Amino acid sequence: MIRFGVSLEEKLLKKFDGISRQKKYQNRSEAIRDLIRDMLVKSEWANPRGEVTGVISLVYDHHKRELVNNLTKIQHHHSGIAIIASQHVHLNHRNCLEVIVVKGDAVNVTGFAAKVRATKGIKHGGLVMTTTGGGIE
Ligand code: NI
Repeated sequence: MIRFGVSLEEKLLKKFDGISRQKKYQNRSEAIRDLIRDMLVKSEWANPRGEVTGVISLVYDHHKRELVNNLTKIQHHHSGIAIIASQHVHLNHRNCLEVIVVKGDAVNVTGFAAKVRATKGIKHGGLVMTTTGGGIE
């Protein structure tokens, strides 16, 4: 561990401490470490060839057969990414949640996520941009 000093305006520090408390951080160091890791993960995603992990969520009405077929087709014909896992959840009578975990180059993962989210009939799509964990300590 290396300790280092940081100079910043008092107002800024007070705001930071306030938000850190809201976010349940035990101390400033923990909050700052997380900020740095967040920044590193963002830079992985900013590099088109950076290897990243993405968690895609899709909510849709399973009565739309064409949509279900299209989703299956897209997942079978993807290229440039690895689909690590997918989980289907029957939310209620009408709606399903599909969670797809993918790994690959940032540009390919972003493209794949955009494609499945844009599938006609998807009610809500999300992408959690996370990391393979390498390089963020
Ligand atoms: Ni279902």
